Amino acid sequence: MELKDRLSDISAKAKIEINAVTTMEELETLRVAYLGKKGALTQVLKGMKDLSAEERPVIGQLGNKVRDEITTQLTETKTSIEKEVLNKRLSEETLDVTLPGIKPKKGQAHVITQSIEEIEDLFLGMGYQIVEGNEVEEDYYNFERVNLPQNHPARDMQDTFYITNEILLRTHTSPVQARTLEKHDFSKGPLKMISPGKVYRRDTDDATHSHQFHQIEGLVIDKHITMADLKGTLEALAKKMFGENREIRLRPSYFPFTEPSVEVDVSCFKCGGKGCNVCKQTGWIEILGAGMTHPEVLRMSGVDPEIYGGFAFGMGPDRIAMLKYGVDDIRNFYLNDQRFLEQFKVKG
Ligand code: DAH
Repeated sequence: MELKDRLSDISAKAKIEINAVTTMEELETLRVAYLGKKGALTQVLKGMKDLSAEERPVIGQLGNKVRDEITTQLTETKTSIEKEVLNKRLSEETLDVTLPGIKPKKGQAHVITQSIEEIEDLFLGMGYQIVEGNEVEEDYYNFERVNLPQNHPARDMQDTFYITNEILLRTHTSPVQARTLEKHDFSKGPLKMISPGKVYRRDTDDATHSHQFHQIEGLVIDKHITMADLKGTLEALAKKMFGENREIRLRPSYFPFTEPSVEVDVSCFKCGGKGCNVCKQTGWIEILGAGMTHPEVLRMSGVDPEIYGGFAFGMGPDRIAMLKYGVDDIRNFYLNDQRFLEQFKVKG
């Protein structure tokens, strides 16, 4: 076949083949097949060296024309395939905004934190400030300043973890009483505070004891505070935590930092006082310790007990939560088992 005929043959075939292409890969294969180093067109043009001087420019021109045509067609096809691919992707990736969303798993505060916050809300509403104490505390504040001097027998009940002889993990939140008292400026008004936080004891853990648990301390100091104020305050607390119909009763007790001291019981929230398994058939549940602040505690903090006085209380939110939710083992609060913790939703 003559070169001229081979060229028009290539031109015709290329047109048809490129026209039928649908993917970039096919297009590239055709480009190589026609225009590549060993491609059909290149092969033909190589044969030009055997042509006569008159024929050579004619075939040369024709060869260039065919190359241009094929190149143009390749470029146009490439553009249209790209467009098609893009359109396909756009239509496939349309976002259906009406589809229901996937709800993210939302955590919640720990049940003890929720209980503490509930109690904080009540006291904030009554004008108390919330004070943060130190978990790592001085022996001096933990014991001495709450009227528990060295060798006082009541220290035995509160053995703890010592960091040095003078520094320990606090056994109760009561040291916050002294730390707040000594800083309080009574010319600006009475002191009304609560202080929640973690406390530590050298206890063997069992169903009702944990070496780490929580307390909320309360302290009110002003002129003319009486035990009736204490009782009214604790009654409000009992109603908030255990229901409107609750009553409280005070039993005489002993704490070194209060005089007189009381244990406070709340009428059973389960049986209403008739007697059941929760209140051990007594109708009452012990919820906290309290009393009228000992003059020595005031004196040690530089407050004149002849002018000022007040009350203090200390409660255990772990115990309150156990009673309220029927949790029979305190250790459950500290195991971080989601199945246990997810059950408690005090607020919304
Ligand atoms: N600190 C006491 C304890 O851990 C609890 C307590 C009792 C605190 C009576 C008080 C209080 O403020 O008045 O056992």
